Amino acid sequence: MGPPGAGKGTQGELLAGRKGIPRYSTGEILREAVREETPLGLEAKRFMDAGELVPDEVILGIVDEVLGRPEAAGGFVFDGFPRTVVQAEGLESSLRRRGESLDAVIDLVVPEEELVRRLTGRRVCAACGGVVGRASSSERCAECGGDLVQRPDDRPDTVRRRLQVYREETEPVLRWYRRSMVPVVEVDGLGTAEEVHAALVQRLDR
Ligand code: AP5
Repeated sequence: MGPPGAGKGTQGELLAGRKGIPRYSTGEILREAVREETPLGLEAKRFMDAGELVPDEVILGIVDEVLGRPEAAGGFVFDGFPRTVVQAEGLESSLRRRGESLDAVIDLVVPEEELVRRLTGRRVCAACGGVVGRASSSERCAECGGDLVQRPDDRPDTVRRRLQVYREETEPVLRWYRRSMVPVVEVDGLGTAEEVHAALVQRLDR
């Protein structure tokens, strides 16, 4: 967990790679659906472009499907989920039904001015969705050669709305977990991605 731009995708990928388990980003699943213009993508796009959350029942449907995948049987990292208390409660009942539970909730802490700097500078590949920190105007995607563009929700006014939604809808989820049995591990998200990863792993091991 963490606000937009805190590094959930970056750290989620490093952690899942280290543990050899899948990472499920609800944001990436939705963006792929938008690119492929599926019914899910068409429904989600207007919420995402406005910086609003996609309705809980849509997200919980996605999560129930991924939890049922065979590859998830050995553990998983969720990135950007749960984002509302309703989603956290839905996750808890899905896991309970499967006889599973969360090991930890990771909260990446980054000051707001750094979040805005990272998000407004980010470029993504229009074809494959790959993320580039910052890019010159002539650069192309290193993976597929696609055009590098700004994510529609990384425009300054939408970034401000996403941060507000995070404070209103998602911070209460952290308070909800702090009252539960699941340990909440706070990690300083400043520093290089590798430094943050090292600190995160150290905190989790402890
Ligand atoms: P989502 O894709 O989850 O976006 P987000 O939470 O706004 O987070 P970001 O992807 O912007 O940032 P991040 O924290 O993953 O950071 P990243 O590693 O990319 O969701 C998008 C939308 O989908 C939502 O607004 C909503 O509409 C919908 N949605 C998704 N999940 C939902 C849910 N559960 N419920 C309802 N709606 C949902 O890094 C950001 C940038 O910083 C990158 O450029 C990166 O290279 C750079 N960076 C990363 N780490 C560092 C570092 N240590 N130092 C310097 N730069 C860094």
